[in-house]
Order: sequence, then structure tokens, then C-alpha cells
Amino acid sequence: MEVASSGASTALSSAKAEPKREQQSTGSGDAPSGAPIDDDESSDSEVSSAGSLEMEPLEEQTLAMLIEQWASATPVKQEDPQPEPHIVAVRQANQKHPKAPRHYLSQEMFLLKDVFSNVLMRPPRQLRMVGKGNWRVVYGYNERMVIKLADAPHGNEALMSTLFPSITAEVVWQGRVHVAMQAGPATELVTFYGLVQKRSELAVERFKSMGKEQIKEFLFYVGAVLTWVESKNVSICDVGPSNLAVNPAYADPPRLLLVDTQDWYQAGAQRKKGFSGMLRLAYSVCPEAEPLLHKIWSGLRNHFPKRFAAFAAEAPSYHHVLRQQGCAIHNGEL
Ligand SMILES: Nc1ncnc2c1ncn2[C@@H]1O[C@H](COP(=O)(O)OP(=O)(O)O)[C@@H](O)[C@H]1O
Ligand SMILES: [Mg+2]
Repeated sequence: MEVASSGASTALSSAKAEPKREQQSTGSGDAPSGAPIDDDESSDSEVSSAGSLEMEPLEEQTLAMLIEQWASATPVKQEDPQPEPHIVAVRQANQKHPKAPRHYLSQEMFLLKDVFSNVLMRPPRQLRMVGKGNWRVVYGYNERMVIKLADAPHGNEALMSTLFPSITAEVVWQGRVHVAMQAGPATELVTFYGLVQKRSELAVERFKSMGKEQIKEFLFYVGAVLTWVESKNVSICDVGPSNLAVNPAYADPPRLLLVDTQDWYQAGAQRKKGFSGMLRLAYSVCPEAEPLLHKIWSGLRNHFPKRFAAFAAEAPSYHHVLRQQGCAIHNGEL
């Protein structure tokens, strides 16, 4: 396992996403039967829950033991110093067939050192897992932010948050995060790629308090926003139920704040057309809207202004939002 400097970095990743290192099945991420998905959109790697384990919270006793052992730990000077952990976790499988180090990250962990400043936390702060994807394990960092831990770099997430600040959750920090993984009396220090991002709220959660018409308009609004992104020559990817998020600061109507743009990339002509996750979502939450969403996206694929106008026409409550988010100009056009 790579051990590297824990220096904070806000450097943006390169414009081209790094290739994913491993393949996982798409399990429940597959299209529902009957959902019309184009062949060239099947490269979507939206999260699957196939290998995910329902995890038990750690016992009070285990948490108390961790705190007792780590809260008072003082750095020891060594000739060849090991990096000191930012976080202590218990080695607990979060996947049915754990392979990678992130598959062993426990549901709760303790933050010993602030990742931004490397300042010791007194007392250590408990972090809880808030989500898991195919590539990252995500914890609440504080009330306003989450921290994502991965075995590989986070692709273009930081770059996309800079290019599209109005519709993506801001990435505030990237760097190496050293985690002490406790397994009984043994501790292994594992270094992850860390990324801190502003908190969003999954749209599917927000849908629970929305009416059918509101959900329908929201889906067409998303179609308009994604058309705007594509018109900037950026290829979208993985915009499905696990990544489609909204800004917790806005109630009615909800506004997009996407959380997983690591595979989006600045493309030339060879764009992927990653709308399949959206169609899958529409198919499950508002099946009557799905055929028109699909028709507009596919039928006007290479006509961005027309496609944008067609989506926006179906989402009248969002005209001012599209202007405020910088997707539409003053007269409502792309
Ligand atoms: N900024 C965020 N705010 C709140 N929850 C988040 C945030 N980012 C991710 N999550 C949660 O963690 C899950 C996995 O994160 P994601 O970035 O999609 O990882 P992956 O690249 O592995 O799919 C998401 O489906 C979501 O539930
Ligand atoms: Mg994801």
C-alpha cells in the first residue's frame, strides 16, 4: 500500500479522467426491463448495491476502546517516521467480497487530525458513513462537508466543480489521508486518496416530500442542465439515482448539486452520452415522463439549443433557476 506525504493539496486533477482500476458488476444498476436505453449509453457505471453489505454499527465498547487507545497517543520520534494517522477505523468489511482496502472501512471512525490543517482533534471527532459507491466510501466530515476515501485518484471531480460551480457540490480539498485500521490488537496504516466536498442531499430522498408534477418538472430541468453541460463539450457520466443530488439550502423548487462527476471529461467529438442513469431514475419515479425525456434527449441529440428549449418548456417552474444557475441567458435560451 502506497504511503505518501499527507500534505494538503487543492490542485486540480488533469482534464482527462484516470482509467478506473478495477471492474465491478453493475448489479441492480442495470436498466429496468422495458426502460429504453440506447446501446451507446450502456457504459454508465452508476453505483450498484450488489456487493454492498448492510453494516452493523460498531459496539460502544469497541468505540470506547479506540478512543482510549488513540485519543491520548503521542507522536513517537522514529528514524524512519511513519506518517501519523488522520483517522482511526476498525477493519470491518463493507462489501460481501472485500478486495480493496476501502472495502474494509468501518461504519464509524474517529478523526484524530484535521485533514486541512493536520491539527490534532481534542477530543477526536466521530465520523459516520453516509454513502458508498463503486469507488468511494463517504463519511460526514462536519455538518457542511463530507469526506470521500478511495484507493485511486478522484478523477475529474475537482475540475468539474470548478467548471460548473452552480450545479455541482464544491470540492474544497484533495490529498492523502492516512488511516490506522485496527484489527484486534494489530494496526495497519493505510493511505487513501481523500476528497472533501460540500454536503448535498440525494434527489431520491427529496422526492419523498414532492408531488408527481414537481418530480416531473425536476427531471426535465435536469435534462436542460445536462444539455447545457454537453453544449460546453463536456461528456457527462453516471447521472443516476446515487449521484443525482440537490442543494440542501434550497427548498422549492429543489436545485441540482451533483456529487459524483469524477468520470465526466472534456471531450471532443467522442462524447459518451451518459443519460441512461437519468432515464432509469425517471422510469422508477415517474414512468409517464420517461418516454418524452428519452425522445427529447435522443431526437435532438446534436441540437443543443433546441434540446435545451424542449426540456425547459416542460419545466416552467425552473426558468428563473436555469437563469440563476447560468444555464440560460436572460431570454431563457441556452
Ligand atoms: N457531497 C455529498 N453529500 C452527501 N452525500 C454524498 C456526497 N457525495 C457522495 N455522497 C453519498 O455517497 C455515495 C457515494 O458517493 P459517490 O461520490 O457517488 O462515490 P462513487 O464514485 O463511489 O460512486 C453517494 O451515492 C451518496 O449517497
Ligand atoms: Mg457514485
